[in-house]
Amino acid sequence: MKITVVGAGNVGATAAQRIVDKELANEVVLVDIIEGLPQGKGLDMYESTPIEGTDTLVRGSNSYDDTAGSNIVVITAGIARKPGMTREQLQDTNAGIVKGVTEAVVAKSPQAILIIVSNPLDVMTYVAFKVSGFERHRVIGMAGILDTARYRTFIAMELGVSVRDIQALVLGGHGDSMVPLVRYTTIAGVPLAEFMDRPTIDKIVKRTRDGGIEIVNYLKTGSAYYAPSAAAVEMVEAVVKDKKRILPCAAYLQGEYGLRDTYIGVPVKLGRKGIEQIIEVPLTPEEKTALTKSADEVKSNISKLKL
Ligand code: APR
Repeated sequence: MKITVVGAGNVGATAAQRIVDKELANEVVLVDIIEGLPQGKGLDMYESTPIEGTDTLVRGSNSYDDTAGSNIVVITAGIARKPGMTREQLQDTNAGIVKGVTEAVVAKSPQAILIIVSNPLDVMTYVAFKVSGFERHRVIGMAGILDTARYRTFIAMELGVSVRDIQALVLGGHGDSMVPLVRYTTIAGVPLAEFMDRPTIDKIVKRTRDGGIEIVNYLKTGSAYYAPSAAAVEMVEAVVKDKKRILPCAAYLQGEYGLRDTYIGVPVKLGRKGIEQIIEVPLTPEEKTALTKSADEVKSNISKLKL
């Protein structure tokens, strides 16, 4: 198992470290355009393996030659948000970066599964899908797991219970229009509405939607990376171990949920082949409307792409 992480910044380097610590690959290659950055971080990470006791070789490089034959490629290259910026304002810059990175990656690893993390997430995953020419099951976006993790965290904080006992799904685009499915949220199998009133739930849903900017406003110089990297690596692990996890991921829809020709967050089954199934959960008319509205926003941004 060889895994490449493109972008040796906050998200990329933390993702690589998690992959190494979990020994999910024999070899991890960290790539960046900045000379010395991936080499330095890669060697530093490799030097942590005798202590952590994992046998994953880590290499940093500025060349895609070193990525040849990767099974999985995680793309985190691009610029991150600063206070006052929306994810959409990253679109023009990051579309060019993700396009170039995808071309370079697929030339060396034509069989890889691509996991996209760069923002605006749904649009960048669409870019990677179109540019790669890969089948849709091999180009997957990371957002829903992160949004769901934030939602689960806020519920756990409110109730003073373990985050592990909260099951939830956040669908839709990775932005203000995301769709936390309150009706399907349970605490140890018991519906959320049994534990808190509607105004409290609404407050948590709003905080989830604003979860990214909350961190940006604290950090000021960049955006979140601990939870985003953990979410990306949960997807990597599902693929590496063929776990058949059911996770919300950005997937290319061809009629599912009445939507087509767009990427949007939906529950999928993740295994060795990538997306092995798109799961269509029954939605109420309001939930369906919210998902369609979110997809319309993504589509409108896709239409502005100059590929
Ligand atoms: N090829 C390879 N690496 C690149 C390229 C490129 N063409 N362009 C930029 N990079 C690298 C930068 O040099 C930098 O090291 O991508 C890295 C981005 O790292 P950070 O600035 O720390 O940003 P990070 O917080 O990691 O976020 C990266 O993920 O979550 C999203 O919104 C976030 O789009 C952003 C991306």
